[in-house]
Amino acid sequence: MTTDQTPNWVALREDDGRAYLLNRVPGELKVKGLGRFDAAQLLEGYSIGDRITVGQKSLTIVDAALPEARRNMQRRAQTIGIKDSGFLISWMGIGVGSRVLEGGHGSAGLAMHLANVMGSKGCLISVEVRPEHAAVGRNNMERMAEFAPEFPDWHLLEMGLSEAAGEVAGICEQLDAAIIDMAEPWTVVPEIAATVKTGGRLACYCPTTAQLEKSWNAVEEEGLVVEFAGEMIERRWSKAAKGGVRPGNQPMGHTAFLLIAGKIASSEEE
Ligand SMILES: C[S@@+](CC[C@H](N)C(=O)[O-])C[C@H]1O[C@@H](n2cnc3c(N)ncnc32)[C@H](O)[C@@H]1O
Repeated sequence: MTTDQTPNWVALREDDGRAYLLNRVPGELKVKGLGRFDAAQLLEGYSIGDRITVGQKSLTIVDAALPEARRNMQRRAQTIGIKDSGFLISWMGIGVGSRVLEGGHGSAGLAMHLANVMGSKGCLISVEVRPEHAAVGRNNMERMAEFAPEFPDWHLLEMGLSEAAGEVAGICEQLDAAIIDMAEPWTVVPEIAATVKTGGRLACYCPTTAQLEKSWNAVEEEGLVVEFAGEMIERRWSKAAKGGVRPGNQPMGHTAFLLIAGKIASSEEE
């Protein structure tokens, strides 16, 4: 925190929602889209809620939070966005204190959404096999940890998901939820399902129907019960030029099919 109790990290937001995160520390920094400047000097005398001009841009100073971090994150692998992560979090009951595994971690798109709701009592294990992707995800997560009011106990395991399953018990006893986002989710379902507690849930993020079908079969072979299989369809509306509001002209894009399965108790002893 700075001495005047304004936070070190702030976001500068354009009126259309584009945002830039700044750490108010002395020294020149380069912010893509805004240019080079000393953030501490630039923000001197300004507070959250003020309007500021940087170069040609007029921006509002706001608290750094998930929406701004998402708009401003480094990206390498394709990320899971708001539409799908919001549904996964709610359906799977992920919240304060949850113990969650997610992988591939990629650029941390999903992990940032998870961290945002898990609170400091949560435990989040991210797994990524490619070091160059892990580095990008780590940067995004470490930055978020600096400005988030609460952040879970976060572990990034740089290994394959099937090997990572063995590490879970050493970090947190069992998982409440696991989300698999990699090209062949069904190949790691047996190991990951074993780390989820009875009553917990496992999800696979499947861009294609073939991935959905193979993952569906794999979770059922592990004795899990599919609770949801399908996709979230987002249809945006806009204001019409001659008045009224109507569906916009942009196409309805496909992201992925979501498969969510619950781990049920084994049958009662006779
Ligand atoms: C689509 S990206 C994940 C995006 C991420 N969930 C997000 O929301 O930003 C898929 C990632 O899975 C990683 N991956 C592929 N196979 C893996 C495996 N067996 N174990 C761990 N990570 C794996 C890839 O390197 C890639 O970074």
